[in-house]
Amino acid sequence: MRFDSQFEPNATPLKGLNAITYGGDYNPEQWPREVWLQDATLMRQAGVNLVSIGIWSWAKLEPRPGEFDFAWLDDLIAILWEQGIHVDLATPTAAPPAWFYKNHPDARVITRDGTVMTNASRGMPSPSAPAYREACARITHALAQRYASHPALALWHVHNEYGAPVSDSYDDHSVAAWREWLKERYTTLDGVNDAWGTSFWGQTYYEWDEIPAPAQSATVTNPSMRLDYQRFTSDALLQCFIAERDIIRQYSDAPITTNFMASSCPAMDLWAWAQECDIVSNDHYLTASDPRNYVTLALDADLTRSIARGKPWLLMEHSTSAVNWQDRNVAKLPGEMLRNSLSHLGRGADGIMYFQWRAARFGAEKFHSSMIPHAGTSSRVYRDVLALGRTLESLTSHGMVGSATPADVAILWDWESFWAQDLEWRPSVDVSHRERIVAFYNQLWKDKITTDFVHPEADLSGYKLVLAPASYLMTDAASANIAQYVRGGGRFLASYFSGIVNENDTVRIGGLAKALEDVLGVKVEEFLPLREGDAVTLNADLLGVTGTLTGDVWADDIVLDGAKDVATYTDGPAPGGAAITRHEFGQGIAWYVSTRLHASDLAAVLDAVYADAHLTPERTLPTELEIVTRESADGRRYIVVLNHTDHEVTVPVTGNHGVLTGVSLDGATVLQPPVVGRTAHNRGETTHRDDTVVLPEPVAVTSSGVAVTAGGSAIILQ
Ligand code: GAL
Repeated sequence: MRFDSQFEPNATPLKGLNAITYGGDYNPEQWPREVWLQDATLMRQAGVNLVSIGIWSWAKLEPRPGEFDFAWLDDLIAILWEQGIHVDLATPTAAPPAWFYKNHPDARVITRDGTVMTNASRGMPSPSAPAYREACARITHALAQRYASHPALALWHVHNEYGAPVSDSYDDHSVAAWREWLKERYTTLDGVNDAWGTSFWGQTYYEWDEIPAPAQSATVTNPSMRLDYQRFTSDALLQCFIAERDIIRQYSDAPITTNFMASSCPAMDLWAWAQECDIVSNDHYLTASDPRNYVTLALDADLTRSIARGKPWLLMEHSTSAVNWQDRNVAKLPGEMLRNSLSHLGRGADGIMYFQWRAARFGAEKFHSSMIPHAGTSSRVYRDVLALGRTLESLTSHGMVGSATPADVAILWDWESFWAQDLEWRPSVDVSHRERIVAFYNQLWKDKITTDFVHPEADLSGYKLVLAPASYLMTDAASANIAQYVRGGGRFLASYFSGIVNENDTVRIGGLAKALEDVLGVKVEEFLPLREGDAVTLNADLLGVTGTLTGDVWADDIVLDGAKDVATYTDGPAPGGAAITRHEFGQGIAWYVSTRLHASDLAAVLDAVYADAHLTPERTLPTELEIVTRESADGRRYIVVLNHTDHEVTVPVTGNHGVLTGVSLDGATVLQPPVVGRTAHNRGETTHRDDTVVLPEPVAVTSSGVAVTAGGSAIILQ
């Protein structure tokens, strides 16, 4: 995707803040006023220009129903503004006060297995409870009216992470709202019965109030009904967001966002949600147990840019070091926080924010890292925070704000399909949409090919290659859209278990992958999932692959219908049968891969697909070197290069070099190994007390245009 035509490049959408935003969640309720004063000064020193406040403040702002106390918030914002710190003001509706639950016990969330959620933690009540919606409206009106014209206000932050920790609820208010939602979608009970195939297992509904929510049942619940309940849940939460947003809009023209968790919150269809936000913002946390978690970070960032339709977005939360909620909360290595931040930045973020500014002393998150850790400002983490602040200031001064991250390849991503595929009784528990998407994405990442994600019904025409690693549910519109793209010259690849059901989770007649079979030129007659641990061998002579390829998990019984088999099974359940096919369709080419290829074999197949798509993978630089480029409307390029290896890497930037083609710097950039011993790293640093912080030098931009930063990362400005 290139620039979105709606988007004015080089213009920040935040009110009064034309810079890469830097800061984090700030929870002043946990600290005395003296600390607020220190914090504002420290924020300014650190280059912080935006903090998210009020997220957990409802109990303090409205101690009794309808009785507000804004004096402390007025004071806090004044203190911050005195230091030039802007605010991202939250509506506190992710955690209603205790009085709300006492007065409205019927609004409590009931989980699918019937557990009633207490309020001894955070988490919203039932999204469909009228009392909750009324209470949200009251506090939102009051906040918006009071702060709309405050000069510190740059952004509104509605709620916090809708969908987590609460998404679907099975309380009475939800059941009532669900029936209304069904009336809206299907108009008649016949429509519902048809869509859900209720003639199966005698589930026909004759009255609306016979329809339950798909809570825990004796055995597998109707899958079409569960799919619709996911849609209903996403819509119910979205209604809550829209109601608050529209109230704010009555008073304020500042942009409004809500923080997503792009690839890690399965409850919401973010294609629909993102359209309702003025700017997309996202929270991302590394999975410590994954040694290559920087690849999933990149995936999440690329997905966020994609739901933002290519516009810059904000990283609203990530961590300076360890989180507190995984089994083993591994601290980040020196330099890792910077590389994480620059990866988000390279992939389109115009803001780098954290959870949180100052570490909490008490509560469930007291062991979560922060910008000011418990160890105080005399700490490695805080020095890294200062260095990053300087780096971002430098990049702002070099005009990076508003630039875009172009991509030639897209992967289909559809939450509705994932909801359907994740239900019970599928052909094999080993088939995971996430696993397949990550496998294809991982190879593209290694090949340094920037990738967008795209909804299957969206315009695909800007891409050289579209991949469908996991598109189980496919609507007729998506099927036609893909056919049109390939017919017009597009290059397309589908992996197994794609194009299987329509929007109601209903199988089409004629072939199991019916929605894609014309384009692919094959008919899938039968699924042939493999036993746990079994593998299949493929002969791929026709692809020029010497030796054999290996797959596992899946195979299909394929009948060729126009396509050519470029690899065949030599063993397993379909010996001699087609395993990988290639079909010339209209002006384009469509590939089908019917097994889970081992990673290196997937790379070999993708090489042939890249050749069809006129794409060149970068294979001369180290695999674990991440490269991603942003471009501004005036043609400037910001090439982010991150060294994830454990050794020094020299990046040749002289002349034309693969992904760096067009870069004409005189020399090479040497990226130090990122893993710097903590002791060595700290040796020689001046020990200082909180009030005598030593600021690091701003990032150096050399005369040749190379901005070298610490910890194995560089940004090359062109
Ligand atoms: C986020 C949440 C924050 C904080 C953080 C800890 O999901 O929005 O409030 O809890 O996780 O990692």
